[in-house]
Parts: sequence; C-alpha cells; structure tokens
Amino acid sequence: MHQTITKNPTIVVDPLADTNNTLLQIVHGLQKDQKELPSKLFYDARGSQIFERICNLQEYYPTRTETAIMQQNVHELVDLVGPGSMLIEYGSGSSSKARILLDHLPELAAYVPVDISREQLFVAAQGLKRDYAELEIIPIWADYNNLFELPLIGKKALHKLAYFPGSTIGNFHLKQAIDFLGNIADLVGPGGGLLIGTDLQKDAEVLSLAYNDRKGVTAAFNLNMLNHINTEFSADFNVDQFKHFAFYNEELGRIEMHLISQAKQTAHIAGEAFNFKEGESILTEVSYKYTLEGFSEMAYKAGFVVIEAWVDPKNYFSVQYLIAR
Ligand code: AVI
Repeated sequence: MHQTITKNPTIVVDPLADTNNTLLQIVHGLQKDQKELPSKLFYDARGSQIFERICNLQEYYPTRTETAIMQQNVHELVDLVGPGSMLIEYGSGSSSKARILLDHLPELAAYVPVDISREQLFVAAQGLKRDYAELEIIPIWADYNNLFELPLIGKKALHKLAYFPGSTIGNFHLKQAIDFLGNIADLVGPGGGLLIGTDLQKDAEVLSLAYNDRKGVTAAFNLNMLNHINTEFSADFNVDQFKHFAFYNEELGRIEMHLISQAKQTAHIAGEAFNFKEGESILTEVSYKYTLEGFSEMAYKAGFVVIEAWVDPKNYFSVQYLIAR
C-alpha cells in the first residue's frame, strides 16, 4: 500500500484510498452464491452519522456497556500499561472512547487515530487538538484492514498500545480476525499492548433486538450501503426494493445482517449485471459474539496473551488488555 509519510503532519493521507480494490471486492462478493458486500462500505459520511445514532439506541447495549467498563477500570488499566505509550486507535470514528484513555494514560507520546471515514476523522481530530493541545495527534486516513506504517513522532515512545474498541473485531470472519490481530501484534512489537472491546455471547433475544431496533435506525444503516455504492461506484441498486434483515445465528455465534431483495430485479456495477430473485439476500455484515475462552484462544494464535479481561455485571461485553508475545 502506498502512503505519504511526512514529519508531524496534520493528516497522513493514504492517497490510493483503495478504490479499485474495493470495487473488485464488491464485484467478487456479488458473484458468490450467497451474495455479500464488505461491511466497511457502511461508513460513508451518512453511514458514519447513522452509526453514531445506533450507538445511542436503547437496544444497542455495546457502546454504553463498553464505556462503563472503561470508566470503572481505567485506573487498573493505567497501572498495567504504564507511562509513555504511543496510542494507535483502529477505526477511531468520533474518538469518544479514546478520550477516557487520553484523560488518564500518563505522558502519552502521541495519539494516532486511524479511520476510513475522512470527514469524521478530520472533525474529530480538530476537536481533540483543541482539547489536548499538548498532545501530538496524527490522524491517518486509511482502511485499517491494510497494513500501514506509523508516522514519525516528536517524542520517543516507550511502547506502543493499539486500541480497537467497539467489538469491531467481531465483524471479521474468524481466520481474518486472527490475521488482523497478527498484523497488530507485528505493529506494536513484542511487549506492545492491545486494548480491545469484545462483545460476548448472550441471550439471543437481547442480541436480536440490538440489531433490529424499533426506530429502524439499523435498517437505515444497512440500506445506506446501497446508496453509498450507487454514489461512489456508479451502481444502480434500487434501494427501495431491498429490506433490512438481521438475526442471531446461534450455531455460529454471530449476528448476520442481510439485505433482502423485494422483487426479481437487476443491478449494474462496473459494466456487470447482477440478477436478484425475489427474497434473495446480500450478506452485508457478520458480528461475532465471543466467550472469554474462545477469544483468548484466538488472540493467542495471533501472537497475543490476554493479561486482563474486564466485564460488566450482566456479562454482556468485555474490555481486554493483551500483550504481544
Ligand atoms: C462496528 N460494529 C462493531 C457494529 C456491530 O455491532 O457489529 C456494527 C453494527 N452493525 C449494526 N449495528 C451495529
């Protein structure tokens, strides 16, 4: 991947932004028997705004639960991590959870938020620079699924701490999750840390409601993916002819989000035509829910050891601190 690295930049932009690669992923996904689209396509400017609304929904417990776990355990975490970290956040969004770390971690060397949504990254970075004037903040606009290099920073970091909140790791298939965690282990190096939010297995009803909210915000989020593809990749999906569908696949321990075609229809993209039967689905997202043991085994395969796992009183969610072996 190409990358422009300058010393102490305001923004380090990945100039390729992966457009061709994403188009190929879309086409290949739609050629499969079970049609699928990459879930990163949720996050255009509108999708990122809708996602912020999801995070505040009563049914969507992960965000507030994770925040509460962080607030309650941050002092213990700080003791484990120690001073002088370079904090790298994967999928920083509005950076709201990172503020808890920025407020408590001592003598941070730098904060490097990485996000695919350029607008949100810019706006969040401006706010952070106002509120943490002394801290070096270097946002990277990039798809964090690809490898990226860390920027040069003014202070010497004693170690690197990656931060991956929100249980976004659950949006990877299991093999991809191990590869991705392995990349993080390489980036932080032996002795480097990872603080990660992971959603836990629980009652199917609670899970199902979290992805089928009454106000239809999650439905709008799911359908917006087609608007995004129409705008950015000159496709012609008839968005009104698809419906949101999400359910908990208990056997696989994951939520699946689909878009169901409401009619026999055809959509075009990149000179290709894709036919849909009435009732046919596109898989737009998987969201794995873990057990503590299952996650620990997966992390170990990727080169990490779990040092601490904090959970909420209902055992809905966990925040885990890992060290690279
Ligand atoms: C970003 N990710 C962890 C969310 C999840 O819960 O899997 C995305 C999401 N999809 C629907 N609602 C939220």
